[in-house]
Amino acid sequence: MLAVSNKVATEKEERPNGIPQHVAVIMDGNGRWAKQRSLPRHAGHRSGVSAVRRTVEHAAKRGVAVLTLFAFSSENWRRPQDEVGRLMKLFLEALQREVDELHRNNVRLRFIGARQQLNEGLLAKIDAAEARTSANTGLILNIAVAYGGRWDIVEAARELAGMVANNEISIADIDEDRFAAALALSGLPDPDLLIRTGGEQRISNFLLWHLAYSELWFCDRLWPDFGPAEFDQAIAFFAQRQRRYGHTGDQVGAA
Ligand code: IPE
Ligand code: IPE
Ligand code: MG
Repeated sequence: MLAVSNKVATEKEERPNGIPQHVAVIMDGNGRWAKQRSLPRHAGHRSGVSAVRRTVEHAAKRGVAVLTLFAFSSENWRRPQDEVGRLMKLFLEALQREVDELHRNNVRLRFIGARQQLNEGLLAKIDAAEARTSANTGLILNIAVAYGGRWDIVEAARELAGMVANNEISIADIDEDRFAAALALSGLPDPDLLIRTGGEQRISNFLLWHLAYSELWFCDRLWPDFGPAEFDQAIAFFAQRQRRYGHTGDQVGAA
């Protein structure tokens, strides 16, 4: 994997040559990938880990500064216990196996989601990986586990309400910037590009607040088959978009 040093630019700063600063990915289709091969669903998840590795390497190579991967949603707890158990075990093993190399490549790892819902063993590994890579200055890799966009917003509301109750801030102090700062991806720019594999064109409770102005790219390819070619297709799509944020096309063109 390439060592990269991508400073997170300010919101107004444009990245060169149409590369999105922050890419978010809904990694969907592991189960169907396995089913097509008459394999158990967990074989699809296992194969999905290789796609994660490829994607992290390629995103870094392309100069993406922040990559946020949806690994397990707040609703995925509803799956059969056996599948959930195997997924948690897989996260633990992948973390154990990959963290050295991620660290060597200057990647900063962050987990977002309801940590208290995870088992102690996994949580300890997550805490250790975050602490170990916290001073790294390359790609910021956020893994969303037990994450839901609604959960995130409710947590932020709870935190801000607590601050008001403690007279740390007033109600009038709550604006969009303060709200965003109370969310799990605090301090990072919103995703410029959202990729979803697996053919579904929905958000499935991912980053509800942050995707307000993201460009959305969907592909039929199942997650274990996702690789650099598909990533580059998504980047090429992104490079063709005119981001207007409510302005007219002429206004943006003249800027
Ligand atoms: C995505 O693949 C991985 C997780 C949600 C954990 P799926 O497991 O949802 O795969 P499909 O959608 O059933 O094919
Ligand atoms: C979204 O995929 C969550 C992850 C990829 C982690 P799902 O497979 O859970 O989404 P739905 O249920 O089809 O909307
Ligand atoms: Mg799915």
